[in-house]
Amino acid sequence: MLREYWYKEAIIYCLNVDYFLDSNGDGTGDFEGLIKRLDYLNKLGITCIWLLPFYNSPRRDDGYDVADYYGINPLAGNFGDFVQLIRLARERGIRVIIDLVVNHTSDQHYWFQSARKDKESPFRNYYVWCKEKPADADEGVSFPGYQKSTWTYDEEAGEYYYHAFYEFQPDLNFSNPKVREEVCKMMGFWLQLGVSGFRVDAAPFLIAKKGLQEKPSQDDQYQYLEELRQFLSVYEGDAIMLAEANVSPDQLAQFFGEDNRMQMLFNFTLNQRLMLALARQEIAPIIQGFEETPVAPPSAHWANFLRNHDELSLDKLSHEERQEVFNAFGPEKEMQIYGRGIRRRLAPMLNGDPQRLELAYSLLFSLPGTPVIRYGEEIGMGDDLSRKERDSIRTPMQWSNSPNGGFSVAPADKLCSPVISEGQYSYEKVNVASQHSNPESLLGRIARMTSARRECVELSLGKIEFLDTGNPAVLLQRSEWEGNVTFTINNLSDKKATIEIERQEFKDTFVLDLLSDKEYKAIEKGHSSVELEGYGYRWFRLGRDSF
Ligand code: NOJ
Repeated sequence: MLREYWYKEAIIYCLNVDYFLDSNGDGTGDFEGLIKRLDYLNKLGITCIWLLPFYNSPRRDDGYDVADYYGINPLAGNFGDFVQLIRLARERGIRVIIDLVVNHTSDQHYWFQSARKDKESPFRNYYVWCKEKPADADEGVSFPGYQKSTWTYDEEAGEYYYHAFYEFQPDLNFSNPKVREEVCKMMGFWLQLGVSGFRVDAAPFLIAKKGLQEKPSQDDQYQYLEELRQFLSVYEGDAIMLAEANVSPDQLAQFFGEDNRMQMLFNFTLNQRLMLALARQEIAPIIQGFEETPVAPPSAHWANFLRNHDELSLDKLSHEERQEVFNAFGPEKEMQIYGRGIRRRLAPMLNGDPQRLELAYSLLFSLPGTPVIRYGEEIGMGDDLSRKERDSIRTPMQWSNSPNGGFSVAPADKLCSPVISEGQYSYEKVNVASQHSNPESLLGRIARMTSARRECVELSLGKIEFLDTGNPAVLLQRSEWEGNVTFTINNLSDKKATIEIERQEFKDTFVLDLLSDKEYKAIEKGHSSVELEGYGYRWFRLGRDSF
């Protein structure tokens, strides 16, 4: 069978160039630094880098406030560096996708600067204006507690402008064909430079009613996503759009359309259910998460993650469920944010328990859907709650125990973000160098998981079933593709478990022990009983390629 969709077999690693590695000692990471670490990423087994915004920007929202879509933040490097990155990554079989942040611009973008100054400006209608502040302006803000309104008065323009996010991020007006044209033009530009696609920021907002505009009909509303897909497929056949759409489950299918809209969607539903499952030590929420998410059409695929660069949003859980996750993983007020999420990294949420962390990643790498990990997760980095909002989890990568964690040789007070230098997660204790040569470290384990996932294509492309084990804490998954079968077993509980795999094929065939949390006694032919430690995991492969 053809394996034509690279992204279904991908393992995505997301990073912000600023925080990865500073090659020139100015305190901010850059493309040259990232290029130096391509071999590290290759060894980790990832196949695609998702670059967070590196455009010219005042960086008041970590770069999600773009001032020039055709410019690179000079601290990150220049176009020469960027193209070199794409090329050297490609040589290692690694693709690069970038953030497409077009719901809004920075208020420093020249479009907005021109629009606010002059009603006759060709860019005035690029934004959404209104003379009177709408009655519901202060409702439905994206960042409760940090954003007052969705309409802000601009003295120069003499009108209010609409912004779904912070007030320095005026929304673009997608009912203006010129704006749509601009978006295609810039996508074309970056595709020409060699990117393999885009992470589409704030996708539901692109197609939503903006401000006072009339609500479009369902058909019209999603039509724009088809326009984007059409453009992309003509321009670069195998490029993808991976959309950020944390919407209610009944709207998700619309983002895939009839296989003619987004190729990939982050599975926020599963993410929230997964965290509830980990908190409860029960698999039922995971099963529910899969039941709630629609099946992706043939060319589309889900993307799974444990943590991203934002808060862990728990907005789709009930109040009680959210409270359960808060109690388990973010009990203090300072750990919570926007009334809906947790602003911590995964390792501290799981109390730094190595067994449990491994189990969480075993789940991520065995579940159906493309796994996405974020820089620093692979070594169990922590967070800095003294930093504001989501900056708590945006600290520099910890490479070694040398000053600034090996991230930069600049004086500590010149760094773009302070390195974690105190406590259990300080760079002296948690860093790449100390785990690099140790196969039992988190880094070593995750590298084994990425390698096992890539070896077992059935995990990416196969037919997946969850089989009953009689134990509410143990997830038994059977994945099959082209005569290969993998059984992955994950024990969410801290208690040991023994389960039976009631499948003749398991008893009859040679079973390859692919991966496990510790060395277990090999399963003998004819046997189906499988033991697991607390938070244990075991992956088995049957079939002709199992060796
Ligand atoms: C979603 C991004 O992930 C987040 O970091 C940002 O603040 C908003 N979009 C606004 O661009």
